[in-house]
Amino acid sequence: MKNFEKPKFNNPHLEDLDSYNRQYLESINSPDNFFLNKAIENLDWFVEPTLGFNNNFKNASWFEDGILNIAYNCIDRYAKKNPERKAIIWQGDERLQTKAITYKELLENVSILANGLKAIGVKKGDRVCIYMPMILEAAYSMLACMRLGAVHSVVFGGFSPEAIRSRIDDADCRYVITADEGIRGGKRVPLKKNVDIALEETNSVEKVIVKRYTGTETNWDSSRDICYDDLVSKQEKFCECVHLKAEDPSFILYTSGSTGKPKGVMHTTGGYLLGAHLTFKYIFGYQENKIFWCTADVGWITGHTYILYGPLSNGATTLMFEGVPSYPDASRFWQVCDDHKVNIFYTAPTAIRALIAAGEKYLESSSRNSLEILGTVGEPINPEVWQWYFEKVGKSSCEVVDTWWQTETGSVLISPIAGVTPTKPGSATLPFFGVIPSLVDADGKTLEGEAKGNLCIDQSWPSQIRTVYGDHHRMIETYFSTYKERYFTGDGARRDKDGYYWVTGRVDDVLNVSGHRIGTAEVESAIVEHKNVAEAAVVGIDHDIKGQAIYAFVILKKIEAGQANTYEEIIEQVSLSIGKIAKPEHIQFVRDLPKTRSGKIMRRILRKIANNNTDELGDITTLADPTIVDELIKGKA
Ligand code: WT7
Repeated sequence: MKNFEKPKFNNPHLEDLDSYNRQYLESINSPDNFFLNKAIENLDWFVEPTLGFNNNFKNASWFEDGILNIAYNCIDRYAKKNPERKAIIWQGDERLQTKAITYKELLENVSILANGLKAIGVKKGDRVCIYMPMILEAAYSMLACMRLGAVHSVVFGGFSPEAIRSRIDDADCRYVITADEGIRGGKRVPLKKNVDIALEETNSVEKVIVKRYTGTETNWDSSRDICYDDLVSKQEKFCECVHLKAEDPSFILYTSGSTGKPKGVMHTTGGYLLGAHLTFKYIFGYQENKIFWCTADVGWITGHTYILYGPLSNGATTLMFEGVPSYPDASRFWQVCDDHKVNIFYTAPTAIRALIAAGEKYLESSSRNSLEILGTVGEPINPEVWQWYFEKVGKSSCEVVDTWWQTETGSVLISPIAGVTPTKPGSATLPFFGVIPSLVDADGKTLEGEAKGNLCIDQSWPSQIRTVYGDHHRMIETYFSTYKERYFTGDGARRDKDGYYWVTGRVDDVLNVSGHRIGTAEVESAIVEHKNVAEAAVVGIDHDIKGQAIYAFVILKKIEAGQANTYEEIIEQVSLSIGKIAKPEHIQFVRDLPKTRSGKIMRRILRKIANNNTDELGDITTLADPTIVDELIKGKA
């Protein structure tokens, strides 16, 4: 295996590594100037900013005196210049279902919805929950909120009614936009029904806008439910963009942490858009007329930033895919690439691993000749998987960019820049402009040079999280109190002799299952909702395809016949409380858990037992009952 892959691609925005180094130095030495210039050059402002960063990492603001609108930057400016350019190519679950929307049509579709929302009372600052399938109306809904300055909170279509309810409550949403059903991999998802159940126990929602998609019968509350198509049919075809301050909120997106309920990560307008815009442009070397496809769902940050806001703010053509990689079979991704002549393809390592497992024969029915850049995101990519992606999918002639970032960072922070940064399989390589990564040990000591430690970021970047919605203190606690004056990512990483970063994964109690971030605490509280469960502890186990899978140790209140039912019921309970993505792969019923004398569960030990690393259990003498360890090993699921 070669250590360095030398770039072949010509990045139109950056000449070479020297120019990267020059701009990078400038960006970290004078971030104000650097990003003000970029903001003015790259975005359209109603009032241009004169201020950069406010020098307060924990209460960050960027471009505070600037006025703009995200929808204007993503739609209007291109609808004026290139009205007939394709903005979104939609590919449905079935091959023959496809549509293309030009920038002019996008403007009209978003405007009529924005006018409709305005007509029912949506205004600047209102929170709107969007629980939609991957259809064009999901994009229209997000952009219509942006036009009005309403704050969207997109909830992934795979989440359960209970998960929707808690997100609606937390953000106090007054409106929900949904569809009757979604379709994915040939299966129907009962979205409206889930919303109905969610709303039984919450009072903040006044109106539910429902897109008729599959046409199935749904329950209808005429005092609350509004038909999407009726609403937009009566509206004017243009809606002005509300003028927003750069620091006005743009959206909230919930993400799991190591403790408590998911946090509502809040992003604002100017800084977020600049981060999305610049990373998309530079990292993927975007040029006019190229087709970009990010396979994520709009319910995750990757979908927000790289299906919509990054590509559209660059006037790109972005592909939105309703389906899954395995339907009708494992050639689907490559078939879509050929059908739509995709040039830049962005997916998660877990999807690539699943396709490797399905077999190389699924590559034979496509040429993939249009591909130039291959991106990955969401979890560490094993060097072998990187190599397969490069050699087999890209036929050794594409750039691979492994992009590291988080919901909280808004846009990519560590990644190669296509055609500029020499890559190493498995490394996210070097920081993007303005990003100062650092590695620290458990005591907060900064590690220099080649080192392995906890990954922090030492200086603000424009698209950083601004707050946890409704709980600023929680934001400071979570990200800014582990290490002084630093943002702590929750990830571990290694820096090699060339200064390249190798992110190894979470060092906290957060799991990454198929690229989905899941807090162990959330799964545990879902499990203990089962009436016969006394206590539960959840850890991650290595999984060849998913990256990690969930392993649960469960203490039952009563041990009796019918434990098999309890097993199924617990799994069902987790689906109900969170969603299918959080279902445990294994449950082991146990008499007790390894606890210290003060009652703290020693997860380190559980992690080792679940992963079969029982030779390296470490010191177990501090346990209240050391005999439990052997018992757990013997009883492994
Ligand atoms: C966590 C963030 C925004 C990306 C989608 C997931 C892991 C993300 C990489 C990568 C190694 C990665 C980290 C991070 N992660 N990208 N390229 N290499 N790990 O966003 O749900 O907020 O999860 O995903 O552990 O902390 P998220």
